[in-house]
Amino acid sequence: MDVLVTGGDGFVGRNLCDELAERGHDVTALSRDPDPSVFEADVDTAIGDVTAYDSMKEAFAGRDAVFNLVALSALYQPSGGEERHFEVHLGGTENAVRAAEEHGVERFVQMSALGADPQGPTAYIRAKGEAEGVVRDSALDWTIFRPSVVFGDGDEFASFTKMLTTPYVTGLPGADTVRFQPIWIGDFAPMLVDSIEDGGHVGETYEIGGPAVLTLGDVTKLVYRAEGKSVSVIHIPTSLAKVGGTLIGPIPLIPFGPNQARSLEIDNTVADNDATVFGRTPADLRSFADYLGVT
Ligand SMILES: NC(=O)c1ccc[n+]([C@@H]2O[C@H](COP(=O)([O-])OP(=O)(O)OC[C@H]3O[C@@H](n4cnc5c(N)ncnc54)[C@H](OP(=O)(O)O)[C@@H]3O)[C@@H](O)[C@H]2O)c1
Repeated sequence: MDVLVTGGDGFVGRNLCDELAERGHDVTALSRDPDPSVFEADVDTAIGDVTAYDSMKEAFAGRDAVFNLVALSALYQPSGGEERHFEVHLGGTENAVRAAEEHGVERFVQMSALGADPQGPTAYIRAKGEAEGVVRDSALDWTIFRPSVVFGDGDEFASFTKMLTTPYVTGLPGADTVRFQPIWIGDFAPMLVDSIEDGGHVGETYEIGGPAVLTLGDVTKLVYRAEGKSVSVIHIPTSLAKVGGTLIGPIPLIPFGPNQARSLEIDNTVADNDATVFGRTPADLRSFADYLGVT
């Protein structure tokens, strides 16, 4: 198949593009400033901004399938304010769907997130929820993925945890409350590719998590243990983090505001793990601890 991946040189995108190319698909990664050096396989690049229709529409011509991955991180406050989530996730999806429909693209895969909901508690979650609605209302053969946090080489999960904390003793907002079910990119990318190779996935929304549920405190301890350091984690209620400046005080360089604190109150776990749809049981999936080498 001829496949376009928007946000294709990002963390998920570059792994997806390599997996697609290794399975014999023709792959083009679109972003505003593509970096061809991130790919191990044979992947073309295209320049385009999903918030500017005329800049990206031609990249959709002649494609059999599109993965829409363009993202702003949920973990950091976007420069330009929280409205940017709607410009990029919602407006970008509207443009990608329109371009796919105008060019007769058959398959469209939308990367969403667990908890995506137009009425949700953060701008990221609301924009993701509205974007899902745009995809479902389209004339396309769509599939939607809602993964928990995805880890692997070049991710921002471990680095974000380290930025929020210090070794030995650390205060951490939501340390005991927010729970993640991290999925390894090496397990997740093949599921994404399977979804376009089999027509049985059209019209489905999949929630995907890894083999273990971890609190943010658990994640922090694993990340430091992998470096041979121990850490005592002191839970800080996220209500404190929402008070302007309270959390930002100790970590002044991190663009972390009330929306990001709110995101640490939302469980990031799946009720039923749709990894099974792709023939994977939780026991088959790589754990975060194993990836860090601290089993
Ligand atoms: N990583 C996770 O743990 C995780 C968890 C759940 C869901 N997701 C979802 O998975 C998808 C991929 O996430 P990721 O972690 O791979 O993100 P990422 O590493 O931040 O990559 C984002 C990509 O989007 C491109 N991009 C950003 N703004 C753009 C614009 N206006 N026009 C065109 N391209 C643009 C970036 O390149 P340029 O900056 O050069 O344009 C980059 O290629 C996202 O939809 C994200 O919400 C990720």
